[in-house]
Amino acid sequence: MDQAEILTVVRDHVRSCSLGESTGHDWWHVVRVASLAAKINQSAGGDPIKVELTALLHDVFDEKFYEGNVADALNALIDQLGVRAALSNEIWDGIIFDILHLGFKGGFDQTPLSLEGQIVQDADRLDAIGAIGIARAFAYGGAKDREIYNSDEEVVAVGTAAEYRSGSRHTINHFYEKLLLLRDRMNTPEGRAIAEQRHKYMEEFLAEFYREWEGE
Ligand code: ADP
Ligand code: NI
Repeated sequence: MDQAEILTVVRDHVRSCSLGESTGHDWWHVVRVASLAAKINQSAGGDPIKVELTALLHDVFDEKFYEGNVADALNALIDQLGVRAALSNEIWDGIIFDILHLGFKGGFDQTPLSLEGQIVQDADRLDAIGAIGIARAFAYGGAKDREIYNSDEEVVAVGTAAEYRSGSRHTINHFYEKLLLLRDRMNTPEGRAIAEQRHKYMEEFLAEFYREWEGE
């Protein structure tokens, strides 16, 4: 199996298991992350196959929803899809390592990632901010029966991982615990430039949101 074929097999599998997902890890999130990562990679110069495989597989077994061991599950999937022999074990292990550490789990995982992992982490973070990020946050909040905002509740900027997972705060709080922090966490210059614009858009959104909340 050549590298183009591996990508097709993995892409088809991920599409079939994530189409219609409603927790923010739907197929279109994966498509956006893969294409942003490819764009960032044009200047970052990582291995395009590793970038795309990491992007495609990064949310298949999310710790927020998957109870088992994520590395074991990814290894089993690689075998099940018949793509293992096409790349070295070192490459697969590197991809799995990056996936285990690139997500936000209530706090920022400081584990150093490979260049390709850093690129996908930037793309994943970019998809959590800006107009798309705002839409995803309210979609997630709605799926969890959360209020959009509650001006009687104090905004809590940083919670623990457990609080983040089980949290029942209003969705505007999520901007302060995560979304507004992402701009300063970008790994690549290209990612930082895109984040800057998306961050400004969220600040404008929040300013307008509060104006309207006050009945202006
Ligand atoms: P990622 O795909 O970036 O790893 P997560 O798995 O943390 O993101 O969450 C998926 C999406 O749901 C993201 O857009 C994220 O900002 C949003 N989300 C996660 N937790 C909350 C929350 N408590 N309130 C609102 N949105 C959330
Ligand atoms: Ni993601």
